[in-house]
Amino acid sequence: MSKPTALSAVRIWDLPSRLFHWLLAAAVFGALGTAWVGGNAMVWHMRCGLTVLALLLFRAAWGFVGGRWSRFASFLYAPATLQRYLRGEARPGDHFDAGHSPLGALSVFGLLVLLAVQVATGLVADDEVAFKGPLNRYVSNARGLVATGWHADIGAWILLALVVLHIAAIAYYRVRKQTDLISPMLSGDKPIPPAAADTPPSVDRAGTRVLALVIGAVCAAFAVWVASLGL
Ligand code: HEM
Repeated sequence: MSKPTALSAVRIWDLPSRLFHWLLAAAVFGALGTAWVGGNAMVWHMRCGLTVLALLLFRAAWGFVGGRWSRFASFLYAPATLQRYLRGEARPGDHFDAGHSPLGALSVFGLLVLLAVQVATGLVADDEVAFKGPLNRYVSNARGLVATGWHADIGAWILLALVVLHIAAIAYYRVRKQTDLISPMLSGDKPIPPAAADTPPSVDRAGTRVLALVIGAVCAAFAVWVASLGL
């Protein structure tokens, strides 16, 4: 008798994680674009940066209370597991293809940490022309200028490189591995093969969505308060 081959759809990315992702992408592209334009567009650069701040705070909380595959614990892999993954040696129960793979997890943490550094340095930056971050007054002039140097130069270039790498990796999966990672980030569901039929789904119910809304509102209010410190 032949083995069953039908794929079954399993909820991997809950709605709050998907909204987080696409809002983050829009805010980061917005921040990069407005920084590129400069001048009056910097008002929007600050708004995009504060949106990224709120989103990162939300993601930090969601990494503990969010759906199964959005929790940090589900993609915090030991170095030995990464090596095993790279050698193609998955063990039963590994579920490397469900949430973030060990390699993908590295890029996710890299992006999140770098974005946090970009936001932190932006908050205390001073372009010495017209714009200061809302927390610039709380640091010394010298520190503010060092932060500005990172924020507007090397940090921005590393971020751009990571975003390009991120999109290139997703294109590589599509073209070379015939794996569509984008649809699950839109619909929430991943097609899971019978061999991994025991993959637990992420809880994505009305209750968890309301919780996400409350956390999101608190994070947004915090970002607005931070912005008000610069007025
Ligand atoms: C500035 C732009 C972007 C940033 C900062 C960004 C950031 C991220 C982050 C932080 C995650 C992890 C999500 C989480 O665990 O919460 C992620 C995952 C993902 N992103 Fe992006 N992203 C960007 C643009 C894009 C674009 C344009 C696409 C589509 C072409 C895309 C497709 C995906 C997909 C498919 C995943 C899930 C990957 C997986 O299955 O492991 N991203 N992104």
